[in-house]
Amino acid sequence: MEATRTDAATTPSAERPLIQVNDLKKRYQMGSEVVWALDGITLSVERGEYIAIMGPSGSGKSTLMNMLGCLDTPTSGQYFLNGQDVSHYTDDELAEIRNREIGFVFQTFNLLPRVDCLRNAELPLIYAGMSRSERRERAAEALRKVGLGDRMDHRPNELSGGQRQRVATARALVNRPSIILADEPTGNLDTETGDEIMMLFESLYRQGNTLLVVTHEEDIAHHARRILRLRDGKLEQDVAVTSPALADAVVD
Ligand SMILES: Nc1ncnc2c1ncn2[C@@H]1O[C@H](COP(=O)(O)OP(=O)(O)OP(=O)(O)O)[C@@H](O)[C@H]1O
Ligand SMILES: [Mg+2]
Repeated sequence: MEATRTDAATTPSAERPLIQVNDLKKRYQMGSEVVWALDGITLSVERGEYIAIMGPSGSGKSTLMNMLGCLDTPTSGQYFLNGQDVSHYTDDELAEIRNREIGFVFQTFNLLPRVDCLRNAELPLIYAGMSRSERRERAAEALRKVGLGDRMDHRPNELSGGQRQRVATARALVNRPSIILADEPTGNLDTETGDEIMMLFESLYRQGNTLLVVTHEEDIAHHARRILRLRDGKLEQDVAVTSPALADAVVD
């Protein structure tokens, strides 16, 4: 009888999903109250997918992002990233894999206010121990990619909201991560500036990046190719987007 191919260790990496999550649970205890922020999520994500994560407030979106981004470990269940079971990694091991595999974009940008765009964008490479000249080159390349080649010496307060989010996106790209995770990336932007960021994400998707974006807005979610809807820590719905917002757009 032929064995089913579930053993990640023996499956070639090109055939493995980038993300495989099995019955993932996360329990929080606040005094006597127990909350299952994630209550049995099973999910796989292929390389190059563009996914939106939706759901009401408190449904577990950020908790799931934290797990997928190796910021936290689950109470139970498995998380295979690139075939490696990272569910039980120590904090140091998680930091290492995070630095190598994950790029984060946050709602509030999280830029260092006192340093220019170039220094902000190169930050993950400092943690990775890369030489100064190589860092500068890579950060400049990432800033050019997000359309900020002419703003490298500006500090965050000398930029618009959309430009700040572009710097944050450049910082997420700079270590050439396997996954880009964005939690409400347009949450602090007006509609027009948010649209600009979604254009940038579309172009990153077309370049082959894997994107997971948490959002409250249907309009934003419909830029992705697949939507996951969470409710009470469970995956309520997992659907393909039939006509993605910018699928026919010309992007640079
Ligand atoms: N550190 C924590 N300690 C205790 N409970 C937590 C913690 N983090 C999250 N929770 C609880 O877990 C549940 C899921 O929270 P989570 O932040 O993942 O929701 P969310 O879907 O991101 O919500 P929002 O849309 O408001 O950002 C909530 O009930 C929340 O109160
Ligand atoms: Mg959240």
